[in-house]
Amino acid sequence: MEFNHLTFQELDSTNEEAIRLYQKGELSTPTVIHSHYQSNGKGYGDNYWESAGGKNLTFSIACFPRMIEPSDQFILTQIISLSLWAVVSEVIPAKKIAIKWPNDLYVGNKKVAGVLIQNFIKGNSIDFSVIGVGLNVNQKVFLSDAPNPTSLIIETGKIFDTEVLLKKILQHFATYKNNLAALSLSETIHTRYLENLYRFGVFHRYKDKEGIFTAEITGINSFGQLKLITKKGEKRVYGFKEVEFL
Ligand code: BTN
Repeated sequence: MEFNHLTFQELDSTNEEAIRLYQKGELSTPTVIHSHYQSNGKGYGDNYWESAGGKNLTFSIACFPRMIEPSDQFILTQIISLSLWAVVSEVIPAKKIAIKWPNDLYVGNKKVAGVLIQNFIKGNSIDFSVIGVGLNVNQKVFLSDAPNPTSLIIETGKIFDTEVLLKKILQHFATYKNNLAALSLSETIHTRYLENLYRFGVFHRYKDKEGIFTAEITGINSFGQLKLITKKGEKRVYGFKEVEFL
């Protein structure tokens, strides 16, 4: 998969720019929209994505994954999470890197990257997908009330070239995506995702609308929902934002 590249000094949000271009009919091939600064970076829900200008990676992959059925859209989450996992693990070999469901990247118990995917469905396929990635690279101080941010420089004391990191992430992503049609790849992807999933198979505390409980992650279903089993053996399934990791 080859990407067109659009690079900006400043945008409101790379996801928003991708959607605007798609809606104007100006995108027809896979395109990476990369901005050195976002004035209104979007996180999940109403959250703002903090990223100091010129220090980090903020980009969106705009693509047309028409061979993926809407019910299988979690595959895109897994592919981008694994691509980030591979690159961050390579640059921070000494620390435990994990994917926090559904698609945050953690170093230990701190968040180094977040992903915001926006899919546009037509009929029975994903017509257009924007996969927005914020990777904290050379920023040392975070001002927002995000609970536990970290960055590559905080973890290693080293400055990284964001362009090199971007290239590596895109290489992993393209390799996964190009091989998706291969029979067993989606299973391999899912196995790798679980192998690197934060808190997989270990009891921890969670909170849902009923209150706090202790449970273990047992897996993720094909819709991307989190499967937990409580200490009492009760099985529970959650969509995103329906359960909080404590
Ligand atoms: C989250 O963890 O809440 C998701 C954060 C996603 C941030 C990235 S930065 C590039 C892209 N453009 C945006 O406005 N948001 C995503």
